[in-house]
Amino acid sequence: MKIVPDKASTIANFFDAVNLGVFLASLFFTVAICGTMVWFAFKYKAGRQTQTPRIYGNNTLEIIWTVVPTVVVIILGILGVYLREKMFEIQPNSLTINVVGWKWAWEFQYPNGKKTSGQNAELVVPLGHPVKLIVTSRDVLHSFFIPAMRVKQDAVPGQYKYLTFTPTKVGEFPVFCTEYCGTRHSLMLARLKVVPEQEFKVWLESKPSTQVSPVFLGRKLYSDLGCNACHSLKEGERLVGPSFYGLKGSVREIKGQKVEVDENYVRESILYPNQFVVEGFQANVMPSYLGRLSDEELDALVYFVLNFLEAPSEELVKVSLEQEEKMDLASLSPVERGKILYEQKACIGCHSLDGSKLVGPSFKNLYGSQRKFQDGTSAIADEEYLKASILYPNKNIVEGYVAAMPSYEGQLSDEELNDIIEFIKAQK
Ligand code: CUA
Repeated sequence: MKIVPDKASTIANFFDAVNLGVFLASLFFTVAICGTMVWFAFKYKAGRQTQTPRIYGNNTLEIIWTVVPTVVVIILGILGVYLREKMFEIQPNSLTINVVGWKWAWEFQYPNGKKTSGQNAELVVPLGHPVKLIVTSRDVLHSFFIPAMRVKQDAVPGQYKYLTFTPTKVGEFPVFCTEYCGTRHSLMLARLKVVPEQEFKVWLESKPSTQVSPVFLGRKLYSDLGCNACHSLKEGERLVGPSFYGLKGSVREIKGQKVEVDENYVRESILYPNQFVVEGFQANVMPSYLGRLSDEELDALVYFVLNFLEAPSEELVKVSLEQEEKMDLASLSPVERGKILYEQKACIGCHSLDGSKLVGPSFKNLYGSQRKFQDGTSAIADEEYLKASILYPNKNIVEGYVAAMPSYEGQLSDEELNDIIEFIKAQK
């Protein structure tokens, strides 16, 4: 059994040294204080001859026991602050990966659109390359913890948090959710896989995902929602609103205060535009997009606004050409569209297609089968049943499962609902 997890990141040694320092200091004082107490308790027990001498103060002793612990605590404090700075120091050439947590799985989204998710999802990263994770949650508080990297970050719905590390060792390392988030919290696991740079490139390009990349989706939303009418992508071009060029990391002046532009700034500006009017621009011009974008869309738009300059150029070329056709959902069959929704709406995290039991029942051979519920009743899984299960999932829980699924009421159009049902029907 290992007492200390693998040391596999650049900060691991320093982290462990500080940790050991705190531990040894605590151990020393615990033993010194409690030891003296116990020893005195015996030595000066009531009824014994020995009595404590009467001491009315000892300046030397008092100075020592005040100054020494103060110095120790200050040193540990400085080391701790320095370590924290190191832990969250984001390198400019970092590989950015979005991390989304929900009950009860992690999803990892790469810049080219590749995604891994579900039970024991793999977070694959290149050896020796700094990684920046943007962590968020779709439902409740989770916490993303990679012991071998010595990093941890809360996943908070409606907020982006950052995490950064540089792996120094090839191998597989466990990832945990370390904030109690419900009945299957302990199964909310993932695996960090550190591979050589070359292998990573091959992995990233392999199995082209059916997903669209965040840059692509963001670019599409940028035009579809009409952001382009007011926000240019060109350097210094001033339309109704500020240009998105060079936005990332820049400092804006808002109501006399300096604010640095990051993912949270952009997100809030989209949702509450009138609280973020930059000096020199007009207020009450931009409409709020609160409630008009899905979480995925908002993430993608934020990503695009900040990263379009660094986006792989072939991604942006694709935007204008072939993928535009691919995105033309009308040309796909309902089953194909349903498959995209199955992945995008995160059904994939809980419902398998191969008959294996995850958090929820597999979709394989689901349609037309007899379902038995916890209350003893049963029903045939027809279209009506599937529809009701998606919209009101907790009404009838199938025997052997727990009420865990969020309702999709109001989150799917009638057509999307129909597409998902067709997709489920096709799983034989
Ligand atoms: Cu997610 Cu605990």
